[in-house]
This record gives sequence, C-alpha cells and structure tokens, in this order.
Amino acid sequence: MNQPKIIVHGGAWAIPDDLREGVLQGVRHAANAGFQILKQGKASLDAVEIAVRILEDNPVFDAGRGSCLNAKGQVEMDAVIMNGRTLAAGAVAGIDCVKNPVSLARMVMEKTKHVLLIGEGAKLFAEEMNVEMVGQDYLVTKYAREELENYRKYEKTVGNLFNNKLSGCDTVGAVAIDCHGNIACATSTGGITAKRVGRVGDAPIVGAGAYCDNLGGGVSATGHGESIIRVSLAHQTVGLMKSGETADDACKMALSDMAERVHGAGGLIAISKNGDIGYHFTTERMAWAYASDDLVTSGLDPGDSEVFSMSKL
Ligand code: GLY
Repeated sequence: MNQPKIIVHGGAWAIPDDLREGVLQGVRHAANAGFQILKQGKASLDAVEIAVRILEDNPVFDAGRGSCLNAKGQVEMDAVIMNGRTLAAGAVAGIDCVKNPVSLARMVMEKTKHVLLIGEGAKLFAEEMNVEMVGQDYLVTKYAREELENYRKYEKTVGNLFNNKLSGCDTVGAVAIDCHGNIACATSTGGITAKRVGRVGDAPIVGAGAYCDNLGGGVSATGHGESIIRVSLAHQTVGLMKSGETADDACKMALSDMAERVHGAGGLIAISKNGDIGYHFTTERMAWAYASDDLVTSGLDPGDSEVFSMSKL
C-alpha cells in the first residue's frame, strides 16, 4: 500500500497581501478535503476533483466563482482532469454556465469518446448531464470587475501585461497519489483578465496545464498560458520525473526551460511515481498546500512554509 498524498495550488503571480489569508486558508482547506478522500481508500481522481471543486467554489481564486473576466467583462472557464493509470483525460474550454468545470471535464472523460468539449457544445453536454448550471450573476465577483477596470487603466499607461500580470490569483489545480499508487491531476481556471473573447489558455490542454502518468508522476501548472502551451510544460515535467528526476527538481528544470526558451513565468505542483512532492514558481508568489500524514503544509512566498495539524484547520 502506498502512502496517499495530495498537493494543490491556488495560482501564481503577485497575489496581493489583502488576499493572503483567504488564499492560504483556501488551499489548506482544499488539500485537507482531498486528503480525507484518499484516507478513506478512495481514488486519486476523486481527491483531485473534490479539491478543485472546493477551490472553484471559493471566490478568492481565479476558477469557477471569482474567475477573471474577458475583454467584454464575461467569465469563460477552462478545466481538465487526467487519470495517470489509463492516460484517460477530459477537458472543457470557453464555458460560462456551470458551477464546477472540473466535474464537467470528468464527465467528458468518463461519459464521451472525446477529450475536449468547448463553448456551446460543452453547454449542451452539461445540460444533458444535469450538472449544476449557474449564470454570470453567480460567477462574476466585484473583485474580478475591479481587476478588469484596473487592467484597462494600467494598460493605457504601460502597455500589454499578459506575461507580467498586475495582481490577483491565477488558476487552481491538484495532484494526488492514492494508496494503490495511482496518480491523478486536475486544473481549472478563468484564464487571464482582459483576454480576448474565445481565448483558450493552457489549463484544458492535456500536457500543457496538466498531465499525469503513473510511470512518471502528475503535474498541474499555473502562469502564463501561452508560454505554458508552447513548451508543453506539464508533459515536459512528467517526462523529467520519468527519467528519474525528483518532483521538486523536475518542476525547477521545466520552469527554467520555459523562462529560457519563451520568457514565460509560472508555477508547478507535482507528485512523482515514488510519492515525493514538488512545487516551484518563477512568479512573485504562488499559493500551495500539501497534505500527508495528517499534516497540511502551505506557503505563498519563496522559502515560506507553515505546517498545520489537520485537527487544527
Ligand atoms: N494559466 C491560466 C491561463 O493562462 O489561462
């Protein structure tokens, strides 16, 4: 039997100080909830889905409720989930009407012959599956509206900030290994503030925003979507673990390659097939938390970490 573990992230970039406590509590809560599922002997897929649903429901994060707004002030969400035992994957992109995109992604994986459904087709599928539907009134928060306004004002004076975002969180994700040694990962996002209508980021692209393979490990990414897609960041990180790198070294090496090759910044969380945990970011901050042995460890700034007993959360 393997020791179950889960790591989650609540996004990279310059998360402002006033969000610090909310973000840290949010990632700890999600890691704890995912770990409770693993402790019951359930599958890593269930654990990552629950953890990401909790992050999507928390308006402090850029996923589900609280998603960033596009140039027209609307939410368009992307999500992916993957099974490292079978390499099955499901994803949705450009959706604006479901409460939990990660669960719809799982249904694409388990109930269709496809991997990725987008826009109107994803909405028809969501209706068919009877998933919880919500409107922009639920998804759009005051904070996201203010972020869009700030972006518009700032862009007028300093130009395009797509690879040097102002503030706020970016994307959520989870990677878990269960007691059978099966690895799963999931990523969900509202994307980038002021993105073009119809822009799809890295999150729902298998191998970019997430990838897992029991033969190497599992990864979820956050950061500049266009850069992450161009280097297939998650697939590259799993490849490094397949060749024997630890999860931590694989995250560092893949992010360093992305910085060098396409000048992109971002963050990664990972668990290797051996069960070692890794995380790294080249942005100012990234919210992360992992749970194992009834302890939750979390952090936000480089070199920052705090350990909590699960009973005290
Ligand atoms: N990493 C989120 C996005 O670029 O869409």
